[in-house]
Amino acid sequence: MFPTHRPRRLRSHPWGREMARETRLHPSMLIEPCFVREGSGRRDPVGAMPGVFQVSIDSLVKDCGAARDAGIGAVILFGIPGAKDAVGSQGYAEDGIVPRAIRALKKEHPALYVIADVCLCEYTDHGHCGLLPKDPRAGAVLNDPTLELLAKESVAYAQAGADMVAPSAMMDGQVGAIRRALDARGFEHLPILSYAAKYASGFYGPFREAAQSAPQQGDRRGYQMDPANAREALHEVALDLEEGADMVMVKPALSYLDVIRRVAERSPVPVAAYNVSGEYSMVKAAAERGWIDGERIAMEILTSIRRAGADVILTYHAREVARWLAKDR
Ligand code: PBG
Repeated sequence: MFPTHRPRRLRSHPWGREMARETRLHPSMLIEPCFVREGSGRRDPVGAMPGVFQVSIDSLVKDCGAARDAGIGAVILFGIPGAKDAVGSQGYAEDGIVPRAIRALKKEHPALYVIADVCLCEYTDHGHCGLLPKDPRAGAVLNDPTLELLAKESVAYAQAGADMVAPSAMMDGQVGAIRRALDARGFEHLPILSYAAKYASGFYGPFREAAQSAPQQGDRRGYQMDPANAREALHEVALDLEEGADMVMVKPALSYLDVIRRVAERSPVPVAAYNVSGEYSMVKAAAERGWIDGERIAMEILTSIRRAGADVILTYHAREVARWLAKDR
């Protein structure tokens, strides 16, 4: 008898396919990124990201209520301040946009898990993730002086009631500096999600419009990782774990599934993957043209990120995925 083996047998009935499924998506594994701006009643569409908005705090409270009702696990906040300066002071101001947003969210939705992104690029007028030297010809973003500001920013978010902070500036030692600052102020229980392996990626293009954070000069290759490197990601993860990271992230996700896999195989802590803005916009743009089935492709991409080993996924598709999953049930 030939063929002897027929894997198709279990694929022929929906029950067989369901039973044999190795990877699943659930809204609780998704984290929704939110862009919060000044004003009230604002819902300004982000041109390159259909379905994504810059929202004022009142609108954010409504959106996050909807996200929580849809079963989304958590939200991560990015602030768009009213004013920027060379040191990004609105990032660590106690009454800055993000601390006010956190307070409003924790008041209205105490059970919602609120993560705060910690970086300077949304708050600096030059758009870099850290401080620049006085003499612009000196070039490189300063590492150690930036650590102090990232630590201050984290403390401001902790004091406002954030459930977790997520440093994304790719400064060496940032997790350790933040851990020490949090511990010194009684926030030793507050976890850190480290953007451990964050690449200098063209896929962040639409985000920089959404967060108004494009560098005015130069690029981020002096601090973010080279897309050609995978072994280096393991080094970054090991250092962040040593410094006290409670979770580690790989970012972007889709072009870095091999990195997610390698990190997941070794990581003793949960692994997050960031399905970034450019990955989202590509799907939306092709779907708008009728070239692909947007829902099917988004689900396939997110499933592949889970299959690669991510425990949680940060994705702009979060709420629509929750809707699609509910419809299938
Ligand atoms: C930096 C930060 C960036 C993203 C998240 N945090 C942008 C950057 O490094 O330029 C990108 C996320 C996305 O593209 O969706 N604070």
